[in-house]
Amino acid sequence: MNTAQRIDALCEVLAANQELTDGVWRAALHAVPRHLFVPDRAWAAADDGPGYAIDRELRPEAWMDAAYADHPIITQLDDGATDVTTGDGHYTSSLSAPGVVVEFLEILDPYDGDRVLEIGTGTGWTAALLAHRLGDGNVTSVEIDKEVHAAAADNLATAGLSPRLILGDGAEGRPDGAPYDRVHVTCGVSRVPYAWVEQTRPGGIIVLPWMPEFEGGHKVALTVGRDGRAIGRFAYRGAAYMMLRAQRPPGWEYAGDYRKSTATLDPRRVLRAGTGLDVAVAGMLPGVSAVTDHSDGFEVWLSDGESGAWVSGDEVNQYGPRSLWDELEEVFFTWVGWGNPARDRFGLTVAPDGQRVWLDSPDNPLSPVRPTAVRPPLFQ
Ligand SMILES: C[S@@+](CC[C@H](N)C(=O)[O-])C[C@H]1O[C@@H](n2cnc3c(N)ncnc32)[C@H](O)[C@@H]1O
Repeated sequence: MNTAQRIDALCEVLAANQELTDGVWRAALHAVPRHLFVPDRAWAAADDGPGYAIDRELRPEAWMDAAYADHPIITQLDDGATDVTTGDGHYTSSLSAPGVVVEFLEILDPYDGDRVLEIGTGTGWTAALLAHRLGDGNVTSVEIDKEVHAAAADNLATAGLSPRLILGDGAEGRPDGAPYDRVHVTCGVSRVPYAWVEQTRPGGIIVLPWMPEFEGGHKVALTVGRDGRAIGRFAYRGAAYMMLRAQRPPGWEYAGDYRKSTATLDPRRVLRAGTGLDVAVAGMLPGVSAVTDHSDGFEVWLSDGESGAWVSGDEVNQYGPRSLWDELEEVFFTWVGWGNPARDRFGLTVAPDGQRVWLDSPDNPLSPVRPTAVRPPLFQ
């Protein structure tokens, strides 16, 4: 297959998945070949099988196949400290999967002449698609990592494009190009930096993968109002991105005593209830993270940094000033009482004093759960 045939085949996959519906982006995919943004050595993270190293010199055909597969290509591990072809480390930069990139661009839906700020340049491919669509002068892209930023500049030059590339912290936006009509965020955020709202023209849109601490991520498009708030409803589908650097989740460990109890309901009901409950939990227990392990029975760990819970089967072990498992059960039954609303009935409002998740209308924000009193231990 030649490159055009590969791009056509990829477009058919994206169209079949309902990620590509607009001919404008189909044309952009042809004009900005993805392989120009794939490093010679990288890690292809197939989601339907194990990841694998790609090496342009050793296996050029497999390298090209990976470039036109609907998979992310990991281009950096551990901020560059680990050889990317091992695939063994924290993913810190990537060329995102084409389906996710195009679906986000369709949600962004820029008009001719719109000025766009991208947060997280990565390889530069998304910036290139935007620059093709809107013109180099209308696209600003910010990347925090020096080497990633430099590689993106090379890739874009090879592709014959020159959007404005900034090395810096995207959490601050880029005031000297504001106001923007669109802000396109390509790293996950749990708390939306207010600078992005301030730098967007009223009526403009901020598209981002909202990745609260609890479980998976959610796509959202926030429209900026005249009152300084940005409001939007979660899209039907989810999103999984690497986090904005300052919002990476902290690791945690606990070696003290637990308060033991028995779960009122089967813990799997909570952790497998779906994305509607996940959003409700993120809204009512902000800052609480969960790690689940399905490999050997069922276990879940909850933490807010200070309190924690470890649940194995029906056995509940909690520590710290809050009883996080009890709070999670309370949110679950509140959500059940609402009729198990799905993800797309929830939305997010970002205001100068912070962000709130709401159900059905911004006038109906979720209230954070009142921390439960610590139960007396059954035994320790
Ligand atoms: C998923 S990659 C972006 C993919 C990219 N848009 C593309 O087309 O290849 C996320 C990028 O966000 C960058 N990043 C993380 N935190 C950032 C921050 N605070 N400001 C700017 N970039 C950041 C990472 O270094 C990484 O390169």
